[in-house]
Amino acid sequence: MSTAGSLARKLIPTYAYAHLRAIRGDFQYQERLGKLKPVWTAYGLLMAVRAAAKFGRKSISVAEFGVANGRGLRRMTTLAEKLSAQSGVSISVFGFDSAEGLPAIADYRDHPELFSEGDYPMQDFESLQTELNGRAKLVIGDIREIESLDEVLSDSGPLGFASIDLDIYSSAKSALQLLARADVGSLLPTVSLHFDDVWSEWGYSKFAGELLAIDEINVEHESRKIDSDRYVDYWHGGHEPWHAAMYMLHSFDHPDRFKAFRSGTRAII
Ligand SMILES: C[S@@+](CC[C@H](N)C(=O)[O-])C[C@H]1O[C@@H](n2cnc3c(N)ncnc32)[C@H](O)[C@@H]1O
Repeated sequence: MSTAGSLARKLIPTYAYAHLRAIRGDFQYQERLGKLKPVWTAYGLLMAVRAAAKFGRKSISVAEFGVANGRGLRRMTTLAEKLSAQSGVSISVFGFDSAEGLPAIADYRDHPELFSEGDYPMQDFESLQTELNGRAKLVIGDIREIESLDEVLSDSGPLGFASIDLDIYSSAKSALQLLARADVGSLLPTVSLHFDDVWSEWGYSKFAGELLAIDEINVEHESRKIDSDRYVDYWHGGHEPWHAAMYMLHSFDHPDRFKAFRSGTRAII
């Protein structure tokens, strides 16, 4: 930060300073003040870039699992480009979808009272692909049949943020298995996660759906654990309902956790 910048930081009250930085287009402050949409994607991306800075990475990947017609992926891509330009961390964006809508509902764990086979198909893969124009990569196919995330991410940086919007237990479990089984080189030591279907008026519980998938991953994997994000309330100065959808994957087997190059990350830009 320049001398004028640090003087301003000291003299201007914190709240006014944050607004000034946000007005000037600073991603970090805009996110904190809830000015970037969707808020969870902006926050997940920010946490990913902060983790990249902490662990000395200049390139990372982020992903949306469950793309449908690309509403979330378009917004993720635009936000990633803005954050990348400001932080200097290059961000590759991936979108995973079968393009066919939800697969067959297996049992109560897939919430048959909420979801049906074929819901939310990708209506026009070609035009979404053309529109994205290489800014995000679409990985088309049933997530349950992808063997490993390592090949998909091999030319990009480690994953720092994933948004899980697959609706049903069986698909969410497969996506989380991909993360839990990925090589350490494909993941940052902490990966911010957003789950779209963990709270609503419809009665989600940890006995079905995405919450059950999270619990099972934690039981099945010794060194990969998914826990709620314990920072999101503090960072935003209080609780918002969407904070309950933010989680973090911890890879306790990641060698970067044991390296000495970790840096402070109070400011990313
Ligand atoms: C609710 S939609 C995603 C909405 C999207 N995130 C948005 O912002 O508009 C859920 C998507 O998950 C996809 N999906 C569910 N299970 C899948 C699986 N096993 N493999 C691939 N795609 C799957 C469906 O094709 C569907 O497009």
